[in-house]
Amino acid sequence: MSSNEMKLSHPKGLYLLFITEMWERFSYYGMRALFMLYITKALLFDKGFAAQIYGNYTGLVYLTPLLGGYIADRYWGNRRSIFWGGIVMAIGQFLMFASALNYQDVELAKYLMFCGLGSLILGNGFFKPNISTMVGHLYAPTDKRKDSAFTIFYMGINLGAGLAPLWCGFVGDTGNPADFKWGFLSAGVGMLVAVFIFELFKNKYLCTPEGKQIGLSPMEDLTHHSHTLDVDDSLKNPNSKKRLVWSLGGLVALFFLFSFNFNSLNTVGAAIFEGADWIGSAIFAVSIIMPVFIVADKSLTKIERSRIFVIYIIAFFVIFFWAAFEQAGASLTFFADEQTDRRIFGWEMPASSFQSFNAIFVVTLAPIFAALWSFLGKRGMEPSSPVKQSLGLFLLSVGYLVIAIGVHGVDANVKVSILWITSLYLLHTMGELCLSPIGLSMVNKLAPIRFASLLMGVWYMSNAAANKFAGTLSGLYPENGVAKSFAGYQIATLYDFFMLFVVMSGVAAVILYFLSKKLEKLMNGIK
Ligand code: PHE
Repeated sequence: MSSNEMKLSHPKGLYLLFITEMWERFSYYGMRALFMLYITKALLFDKGFAAQIYGNYTGLVYLTPLLGGYIADRYWGNRRSIFWGGIVMAIGQFLMFASALNYQDVELAKYLMFCGLGSLILGNGFFKPNISTMVGHLYAPTDKRKDSAFTIFYMGINLGAGLAPLWCGFVGDTGNPADFKWGFLSAGVGMLVAVFIFELFKNKYLCTPEGKQIGLSPMEDLTHHSHTLDVDDSLKNPNSKKRLVWSLGGLVALFFLFSFNFNSLNTVGAAIFEGADWIGSAIFAVSIIMPVFIVADKSLTKIERSRIFVIYIIAFFVIFFWAAFEQAGASLTFFADEQTDRRIFGWEMPASSFQSFNAIFVVTLAPIFAALWSFLGKRGMEPSSPVKQSLGLFLLSVGYLVIAIGVHGVDANVKVSILWITSLYLLHTMGELCLSPIGLSMVNKLAPIRFASLLMGVWYMSNAAANKFAGTLSGLYPENGVAKSFAGYQIATLYDFFMLFVVMSGVAAVILYFLSKKLEKLMNGIK
């Protein structure tokens, strides 16, 4: 191992990507904090319709990284994709601003809003996977600092995500519907700041340890060039055309299959399919076909293919993590609102404030986790990525167990201590830090360089599927003592509801742990 690999400090480029992503996430989460309020309080849509738009938006936002990743790997490179993704996202935020400026003309405001959402979905697809890919490429392929680098990067994400709702809420959510526009304007400006900083410093700081510029297009990058020719050749050969045809055929077939309502089946599948609308169907269809399409590429070697399989297997487990974790925005907020005693020294904390706990915990704990991975790495004791992921799922399960104990036997109209939900968020954040930044790092280590951003897109796609699934699960939250059932499991109380997540993430953690040895073998020397 070279002395470079043992170094604990990080290249300056990491901090450039940190600041850029911080501003981009400020923009994304600032808009998201106001989005539902704007729709229901300024445009006066009903809550059901609002929730549907929200689910589709958050789902699609993590589906487009496949497109952005593909275009970057084949044509544009990460830098250009980040630039255009950022510009399109900024346009999206300014369209939201224009919509809020005209909120009294509902038809016009609605039209501008949908154009804005479309731009945000498209722009995010180009920005998000590409900035994440660049973090890993700052380091040599075997550099031990990658997990800790992604953990620091994750801190930037959450610094933006934590500050945005405070600022955009302060200027936009004043009780006067005419003020929403200031929140969206701030989000647009934040996005431009991200692009500006990135463009200003990218040539100076974004390079490998040997000083080679990273994130260039395959044409600009000579060493990358030869790979691209392979891929191009593989596309020209008849096998490749066949691959494209059957993939498209499969996509259409699955899309219609998922759109079909499996009402009569009382299985886990039914619970997913019942809620499937056309966007949900598209997400699930793409989630199945795209991985097969990538792995069928003839230019892949056996080792590359087995490493890609590891990404797929872990991305599958990660769906269960985010589906349970994302209850934060829905069922856990109802819980904070209705069943948590939120009084602290005579002041009642608003239920929505709990959503910032996660970001605050990430920002405070990320440096500790980054240092922990470096510390263990130096001593050769660092767990492999699959083991860290399984630990993440386990901590999520423990978080739900804590809250299940807190509500066990408690009457529906009794409020429980704030400590229960706080402990849950603390444990969930620790789980997230074992799983999410480590996942980004793992994808970066395992993906062949010519598919680096596309496979990052696959990683984000699991988040799209999870968000859709999370919505279905959140619908099982018990209301007015009416029992609901999921895959044959009866949910009559909050205890039953939370135990569902204990079991789901606990089982996933154990299976992943037992698979980890096998996965490590498939990773062929990468940890
Ligand atoms: N806070 C994370 C982010 O915005 C949440 C996330 C994790 C989103 C994984 C997508 C995938 O990046």
